[in-house]
Amino acid sequence: MDSYIPISQPSIGARERELVLDAVDSGWVSSIGKYIDEFEAAFARYCGTEFALAVSNGTTGLHLALVTLGLGPGDEVIIPDLTFVATANAVAYTGASPVLADIDPDTLCMDPASVESLVTERTRVIMPVHLYGHPADMDALAAIAKPRGIAVIEDAAEAHGAEYKGRRVGGLSQCGVFSFYGNKVVTTGEGGMLTTNDRAFYQRAKRLRDHAMSPERRYFHDERGYNYRMTNLQAALGVAQMERIDDFLKGRDEIMAWYRSAIPSSETVRLNRVKNWAASAFWMVCLEVDGFNEARREAFMGKLKQRGIDSRPYFCTMSSMPMYQQKPLPVAARKAQSGLNLPCFVGLSKKDVERIGGVVNELLADVDQR
Ligand SMILES: Cc1ncc(COP(=O)(O)O)c(C=O)c1O
Repeated sequence: MDSYIPISQPSIGARERELVLDAVDSGWVSSIGKYIDEFEAAFARYCGTEFALAVSNGTTGLHLALVTLGLGPGDEVIIPDLTFVATANAVAYTGASPVLADIDPDTLCMDPASVESLVTERTRVIMPVHLYGHPADMDALAAIAKPRGIAVIEDAAEAHGAEYKGRRVGGLSQCGVFSFYGNKVVTTGEGGMLTTNDRAFYQRAKRLRDHAMSPERRYFHDERGYNYRMTNLQAALGVAQMERIDDFLKGRDEIMAWYRSAIPSSETVRLNRVKNWAASAFWMVCLEVDGFNEARREAFMGKLKQRGIDSRPYFCTMSSMPMYQQKPLPVAARKAQSGLNLPCFVGLSKKDVERIGGVVNELLADVDQR
């Protein structure tokens, strides 16, 4: 029996162990310590931003970015309909309303034309998501946002190292927000990072992250802040991972190339599409098959599982959930009901990908694609 191939698994090596143990032994186990400073500096350098602020996870990072801008009830934030629920939840935590935009069928990121049609006088933020590692069309979004004084915040939770027109995500807007959950390109177990070039924004976010304690008077707080800090132990893991990020991304590129030869694209079967202005981080391998609906996709994933191959469906749309329910948006709805992700992680071998491709091709030959 072939071994089971999970959808994702972290790459934690000797260097990660060494630095985490060093952090443990140092006694600096909470949110003060040299690894926090080193991780923030390494991440800012990598994204080409002036500042980076480590936080407890990507969700708190998104919330922090929005409260730093002073978002509240009555404000609107445009987000894509197809994303992980944290994007919408972070908006809702502030009291502002998430407004759902449809997506581009190739990039799976928010469609600027849909965004433009949703702008009102209450729109304060446009929040693209670089979904599955592919960057959103940032210039088109900036062209909508800038003349109207609307801020752009990138949800870059899934796209460490992805590039838009040769520039890394996270530095393409007011603020980028990353996640370091265990299945991400870089992990700290749980964790997140804000990136920005705006000093005032950075300082305000840092203050709010740390309970908004007065710099003049200890334990006095003149407004309500949060404890959204990362620990030094997590940051130690992050420093070791950042030493390897170039290799991680090269590895993902290679895996994607193996997939492309193992599963030939056709009129009806597609893997990740990448725009000529983009370099994807390939966080997830995306498989789309014309003729799939929810039931056929579920059956297909069940058969993959029987053959020892893990997979996952695309995210559900926000508009399909009770908290954000509204009329379905056509492209997002179609993708959410038919797309799926195949395993992609550093450590996946060419042989593994060939095995996955063989099974996928065999099962697709059987699928009724009418
Ligand atoms: C698009 C997106 N936004 C936000 C998050 C939230 O990050 P976290 O899980 O670190 O809270 C995630 C993922 O986990 C995500 O995929």
